[in-house]
Amino acid sequence: MNTTKSNNKNEGGIYESKIGLKKKYIDFFVSKDHKQIDSASVVPENDPSCLFNTAGMQPLVPFLLGNPHPLGKRLVDYQKCFRLTDLEEVGDKTHHTFFEMLGNWSLGDYFKHEAIEWSFEFLTKILGISTDYLAVTVFEGNDVVPRDEEAANCWISLGISPKHVAYLPAENNWWPSLDQLGPCGSDTEIFYWSDTTEQPPEHFDTSDDRWVEIWNNVFMQFEHLKTGEFIELKQKNVDTGMGVERATAALSGVDDNYRTEIWWPIITKICELSGKEYDQSNERAMRIVADHCRSILMIASDKAGIVPSNTDQGYVLRRLIRRMLRYAKILGIDINSDFDIEIIETISVIMGEYYPEVIENLEQVKSVLRSERLKFAKTIESGMKMLNKYLASLGDKKELSAEDAFKLFDTFGFPIEMTEEIASEQGVTVDTNGFKELFVRHQEKSRKGAEGKFKGGLADDTEETARLHNATHLLQAALRKVLGEEVQQKGSNITSERLRFDFSFNRKVSDQELSEVENIVNKAIDEKIDVIKKEMSYEDAKASGALGFFSQKYNDFVYVYEIEGYSKEICGGPHAKNTAELGHFHIVKEQACASGIRRIKAVIQHN
Ligand code: ALA
Repeated sequence: MNTTKSNNKNEGGIYESKIGLKKKYIDFFVSKDHKQIDSASVVPENDPSCLFNTAGMQPLVPFLLGNPHPLGKRLVDYQKCFRLTDLEEVGDKTHHTFFEMLGNWSLGDYFKHEAIEWSFEFLTKILGISTDYLAVTVFEGNDVVPRDEEAANCWISLGISPKHVAYLPAENNWWPSLDQLGPCGSDTEIFYWSDTTEQPPEHFDTSDDRWVEIWNNVFMQFEHLKTGEFIELKQKNVDTGMGVERATAALSGVDDNYRTEIWWPIITKICELSGKEYDQSNERAMRIVADHCRSILMIASDKAGIVPSNTDQGYVLRRLIRRMLRYAKILGIDINSDFDIEIIETISVIMGEYYPEVIENLEQVKSVLRSERLKFAKTIESGMKMLNKYLASLGDKKELSAEDAFKLFDTFGFPIEMTEEIASEQGVTVDTNGFKELFVRHQEKSRKGAEGKFKGGLADDTEETARLHNATHLLQAALRKVLGEEVQQKGSNITSERLRFDFSFNRKVSDQELSEVENIVNKAIDEKIDVIKKEMSYEDAKASGALGFFSQKYNDFVYVYEIEGYSKEICGGPHAKNTAELGHFHIVKEQACASGIRRIKAVIQHN
């Protein structure tokens, strides 16, 4: 299929895709009695240890673990995902920061046979792929589950050649991976022969990268506990994932994702704005601008309400905008012009059909992007000059000092990662540890300044929020003590006035139990305990017994907040430094929230 010349717009300006994978997939599984669910926010709602959802199943973890889903046991969706870990690869033909994942789920309903049969039917009947173009991998077995002859036989009975079935070990066919905790299982992965010039070979050679993995079916029947055990889940689930961008490229017969209907209109727009061709000398920068603009639109329009800032998701958004601007400049685009607005308008036509929030929030996203751009446009030029001067004066040292990197950050708004990237292009490293220290010292100074401002008056919103974060940790620990370990966080929402905490528990909590919980929290407050913050790997955090919720590893490091003797939790939020800062803890309300889930609202009172 040749998509390179068309922009696929009809007269109404609505984008019409030629492959239309998302729509076909949803329609197919709806016809198999699945209920379509909306994509969840790109920001996980119940997992503060993760900045973004990185796989379709992440928002569904509570249901994979056995909580009943209000729409039943068969679900289908496309989910917004974002992986910062791939940022540096963006610019090649296949990596993206934001991507979409299609998935169909059985929550304790169908299992291997139906999952495989329907995958096969969808690929061959709906997409019209010839069976020879498909190959599969199945799990070779370990001491938890035997070799998956069942899945293999199922594929073969449908017409897949036994020579197109490969048995592979857990590194390939166990999801998410053997060392990650939470729901998991063996899987079967489906590969498509993407080479349009040669026929698919008789034997499936898994190392031949012309076989592209397009779909994964995970048989999620275990929970990996921190004791190291794999226990059977209450129910056998199926979790599947098909990356829309990659599958569309394979099905379009192109090896460059950007030459598909999803990206080509965006690339065309960038060519027009820069007056340059999509060729070897410009393609990397064009892909980065296209990828980042799409991520900017999808993150900033999301209901999570992210705006550029210096922390968490807001910082990621800021980095994307600034990195995108650097590459736009490399392409010769005037970054004082509204070029980015034009690009995101093009993207909104493609994505808005599937995500109403993109259209609803478009004007707001445009204004946020414009003001963030204009701010950086003022300093990028002088920042680049300064950085080049620093680099030129290094001589043989080949390391940029923390002070210089901090100056670039503080005066010119250069994210440290951007300084590192530019320096590395000239073979120079950056003292990032030193930078972090300067950054923390700087924050400390601003905090003290802010405290001075509020001295004697009421706490500002940020401080109150931080205290309620600690109170939430203490509340969860106390609930687990009083009601048992079945209590697990299912949701948390904090404003500067109150905390709201949803947790798994099957009955009303009695008044007496609530007052015991209050007493435990208030005791921890009276004991004036220091809150210890440690940075560690996700695995170490889990191994240390910190509470946290299953998530695919997003960051190398997470923060663990410990209130000794009471609580230890992975958390990304702001925290008070000592429990004495919290005030008196009081539960205002306890009520049902969903089946098997209770909700508590609580406040902290300052005298
Ligand atoms: N959860 C599986 C994946 O993301 C389907 O590959």
